[in-house]
Amino acid sequence: MKPVLICGNWKSNKTTREAAEWVEKFKQQATNGIAQNVTGIIAPSFPLLSFFKQKITEHNLPLQLAAQDVSPFPFGSYTGAVAALQVKEFAQWVIIGHSERRKYFKEDDQLLANKVDEAKTAGLSIIYCVSGVDTLIPEGVDVVAYEPVAAIGTGQAENPSVANEIIAALKLKSKCSVGIYGGSVTTENVESYISQTAIDGVLPGKASLDPVMFAQLIQHAST
Ligand code: PGA
Repeated sequence: MKPVLICGNWKSNKTTREAAEWVEKFKQQATNGIAQNVTGIIAPSFPLLSFFKQKITEHNLPLQLAAQDVSPFPFGSYTGAVAALQVKEFAQWVIIGHSERRKYFKEDDQLLANKVDEAKTAGLSIIYCVSGVDTLIPEGVDVVAYEPVAAIGTGQAENPSVANEIIAALKLKSKCSVGIYGGSVTTENVESYISQTAIDGVLPGKASLDPVMFAQLIQHAST
């Protein structure tokens, strides 16, 4: 079985109490751990990273942590920014370049390249999101995530064989050996992506907010 990466992107959702409920339910679902070939990652918002890290240790949860974003600057006078070294205290991974960051926060290629530099310097593994083959990809990212904008949060998931072709092209272009798909991934359609030759995982948003669904998604991805 090939290695599979599943990264749940919580976006701007959940209080600490809601996250605790999620952990409790996920724990019950994942009592037998997860398949050896699967890496399960959760990307909560910044204030939940510390809480999540504690819970992972406390319950020995089969999960790693990602931040959803990182500062393009090092430590310094950058009010509101969270530097890569601060992220690294809690998370191994960081998502950079999500289409919502590009759209709502006007993040451009240069700014994203600076984030990649900072993340690399801090030793974070980078999941870099793009909406197609024309999007620039900075050197040295660890995972390239193909997320067609029309598929995000709409229930209109991309055709798996089209996603496969685009991810194959993205892996070649970025010299990145891991390519994943994101956009309306569900427990029902996850296998249709994972079974594609070039697709090494998925990046579910909405489906990761429900602990039962996320645990099932991980189970389906490992079969
Ligand atoms: P979605 O989000 O699964 O809710 O479509 C995916 C994403 O934006 O990463």
